[in-house]
Amino acid sequence: MAERSLSLELEAALGTLTKAVFSQPLDRTADAKLSVRPLTLRGERLFQLERQRGAQVFHENLDAGALLRLCRAEWDGRYRQALLVTETESAQYSLKTNGRYKKNAAGAALPRPGGAESHDRQKGYILREGENIPALVDLGVFTPDFRVVKARYDKYRQINRFVELIDQAFAESDRKAITILDFGCGKSYLTFILYYYFAVKRGMDVTIIGYDLKADVVARCTQIAEKYGYTGLRFVRADVSRDALCGERADMVVTLHACDTATDYALYYAIEKGADYIFSVPCCQHEVNAAIRKGGDYDILLGHGLLKERLSALLTDAIRGRVLEDMGYKVDMIEFTDFEHSPKNLMIRARRTGKRGTKGRAEARRLAEKYGFTQTLLELCDKEGEERA
Ligand SMILES: C[S@@+](CC[C@H](N)C(=O)[O-])C[C@H]1O[C@@H](n2cnc3c(N)ncnc32)[C@H](O)[C@@H]1O
Repeated sequence: MAERSLSLELEAALGTLTKAVFSQPLDRTADAKLSVRPLTLRGERLFQLERQRGAQVFHENLDAGALLRLCRAEWDGRYRQALLVTETESAQYSLKTNGRYKKNAAGAALPRPGGAESHDRQKGYILREGENIPALVDLGVFTPDFRVVKARYDKYRQINRFVELIDQAFAESDRKAITILDFGCGKSYLTFILYYYFAVKRGMDVTIIGYDLKADVVARCTQIAEKYGYTGLRFVRADVSRDALCGERADMVVTLHACDTATDYALYYAIEKGADYIFSVPCCQHEVNAAIRKGGDYDILLGHGLLKERLSALLTDAIRGRVLEDMGYKVDMIEFTDFEHSPKNLMIRARRTGKRGTKGRAEARRLAEKYGFTQTLLELCDKEGEERA
């Protein structure tokens, strides 16, 4: 088989390239490993370069010309091994003593063309299994070779779906910077993935703050963010129902299963800060369920604990939606994941329009008085209205 320069091989593969990996550098000053994969940003085909240096990884997005220039100037002849995967072929190259590369016959150990990636693409996952997202390894969602840990498949599915919905909202956006607040971030699978999606996949300037009650998870997540040089990602211990938050502006507020009324405080914070986007998947619901009593046409739904619980959860989310509409948001209620994967599968998705109203809150207030319950988001917004008056 003819020996050629790596740059020529890369150039020939570029049109259908799905992945390239350069490894085993000859000298210590070189990055330990380079990975390249194509991505489309605002309609432009680019290549995401990932450089691995020690425990840290760095990302940049390059066009084809810049990628080939780097390959010619810095990588060709400097890495002992290269893997080029196109839509039709996986090829492994080895560096020869004359500085050229020899293509090895495809072996069983080589990845199948497209392999796991095309499988995941069929499922529409944005974060593909096999994708180099090292923080997910630390969080126990990926194995060290970036496969999904079986016991974490539901979580993987959930965060993919969350990002998919955000991706849809940003399809036409040419925004360059974003500040996101994640309320009740917990172990922060979503928070890390959002950082990865915006900073790495979209190449944006990102600030994300995750808030949680638990000091130990905040410390652990801070450690992981520092390990990977995620400078725009911070974690803060706070009780979002009581503590004064950092006062950051927020372009987006997210919650994923933030307990009970923590979701309401997140929604209220978003309203107060005029956040453009809200993506909120509520969690367990106790407030309305604990107080609701018979009072009218829907008493038939209050006779059994299970029905009462479900009615209370639906009422709570319906009120949240109506309040958000009054406070200047266009609201959708969408199914987040299949019910079989999580019963807490409703997402409140809201986009700020600035058009305010009063009817939704009045309607919710009438129901609350009639059935004897309180609802935190309604209370917070009504109180703000009274203080202003
Ligand atoms: C079910 S976990 C969800 C964690 C994460 N968002 C996820 O989906 O993996 C709920 C998290 O909300 C946090 N939380 C509950 N109430 C809170 C409050 N008032 N302020 C801050 N965090 C709160 C809990 O500590 C917990 O970590």
